[in-house]
Amino acid sequence: MFGKRGLGDAPGAAPTPAVAPPSAARVQAVTAPRPAAPAAAAPAPQAARPAAAGAPAPPRPATPAPRPAAPPPPPPRVPDPSENPEYRSEAYYRVKSTIFNALIETIDLTQLAQLDPESARDEIRDIVAEIISIKNVVMSIAEQESLLDDICNDVLGYGPLEPLLARDDIADVMVNGANAVFIEVNGKISKTGIRFRDNGQLMNICQRIVSQVGRRVDESSPICDARLPDGSRVNVIVPPLAIDGPTLTIRKFKKDKLKLSNLVEFGSISPAGAKILQIIGACRCNVLISGGTGSGKTTLLNTLTAFIDPTERVITCEDAAELQLQQPHVVRLETRPPNLEGSGQVTMRDLVKNCLRMRPERIIVGEVRGSEAFDLLQAMNTGHDGSMGTLHANTPREALSRLESMITMGGFSLPAKTIREIIVAAVDVVIQAQRLRDGSRRITQITEVLGLEGDTIITQDLLLYEIQGEDQNGRINGRHKGTGVGRPRFWERARYFGLEKELAQALDETEAG
Ligand SMILES: Nc1ncnc2c1ncn2[C@@H]1O[C@H](COP(=O)(O)OP(=O)(O)O)[C@@H](O)[C@H]1O
Ligand SMILES: [Mg+2]
Repeated sequence: MFGKRGLGDAPGAAPTPAVAPPSAARVQAVTAPRPAAPAAAAPAPQAARPAAAGAPAPPRPATPAPRPAAPPPPPPRVPDPSENPEYRSEAYYRVKSTIFNALIETIDLTQLAQLDPESARDEIRDIVAEIISIKNVVMSIAEQESLLDDICNDVLGYGPLEPLLARDDIADVMVNGANAVFIEVNGKISKTGIRFRDNGQLMNICQRIVSQVGRRVDESSPICDARLPDGSRVNVIVPPLAIDGPTLTIRKFKKDKLKLSNLVEFGSISPAGAKILQIIGACRCNVLISGGTGSGKTTLLNTLTAFIDPTERVITCEDAAELQLQQPHVVRLETRPPNLEGSGQVTMRDLVKNCLRMRPERIIVGEVRGSEAFDLLQAMNTGHDGSMGTLHANTPREALSRLESMITMGGFSLPAKTIREIIVAAVDVVIQAQRLRDGSRRITQITEVLGLEGDTIITQDLLLYEIQGEDQNGRINGRHKGTGVGRPRFWERARYFGLEKELAQALDETEAG
């Protein structure tokens, strides 16, 4: 009875009338491969619009009028929130705030925190019912339930964020101050009608989140990374750094990680391409997964780990543990930010270096960002075949040059050529993930590193995603096409693992398209 309100399809419905793009230009543009960044970035502001349009008069204050000064409300008639629970009127918020304030005066919050959630909710229910009758608020039972849910979320949980956190279809929640909450669903970003009472309430919720990992956010330490109990990653940045109010970004943790078969279902990769990925994972190629933010790198890395032999000892290093390896012999390591006094930090580099003393057979680095690149390459070059990592880049070539600059900037004074030699010797395959402008995520390139010619790293594409056009709904059509390479460089490796026939077959199939 206290279950989450039926939010399931509300925002899903909102974006439908959206995105009628200037079509001719678009179709033209997509036939030529284009850099990821603009393609991925473009739809965002567009997608945001329709949802906002569905909302009641935009709640953004044009001038920053201090909210609390609002006049006290006349005893209210509450509008029915059940039609679209996300969009609530001013009147609703006024009633809620009256009841909420009365509630806070009545109950002892610290005592309430000691109760289990069910009893705490019962307690709040009784008091809210009393307040409603004393204040003479006109409300149906359903409205009362909905208000109660809302208030309980405020007092016991993450307030207006709760319904979003409960939804499994949301990948990211982005809060830009009290009145602008965006979500990403199926690769599309849209604005929700959800809002906070004010920046104070939002700040409290930020505080509650970061206090769970023993941190605080305030003017003196305005940036903080944290994690929700369910594993979701959170970043908080507050004023004065965030100009328009506390800003919260949540990458939701997916309990059911996608498998390679799911990626095939979604068309992220063709069946033959998936076969090649599977062989790459199984025959212990050293792999880099490259892509933009939210392009599906971690997901892809996770799917590749499924093909690691269960007898291997695998060590994973991450900023916040996201990978879910199914093998029995896995050690998971996580970096640590500095504490309030600024000490105690353990960096990715520390972890990767330490890994090497832990007798790993494979090392998996969640996200390579800095000087740990060098240690990962060293690991790849010293018998830890099958090591993997993700990094942020728009093409496989760019991934390789980013790797080079990470090493240079990490303070290793090695000649460029030497660094390239190390890279070429270490990395076998780069896999490119991309979020296309229709929101879909695709594996757009599987590329091998062949060697060095003079000072230039030579690569060879095995598989490319060709965009062919789009359907009436703006969904991009395309196909994964082999490039006709008969014998990739890891052929011998595949043979060693008895997988060369499968590899040959998969390569043939990709060429057939
Ligand atoms: N191929 C895919 N198809 C659909 N959704 C995907 C795909 N790959 C990833 N996702 C979803 O996209 C979101 C971001 O993926 P993630 O792997 O964390 O991205 P990254 O590591 O590149 O930032 C997650 O919610 C994930 O479930
Ligand atoms: Mg990631």
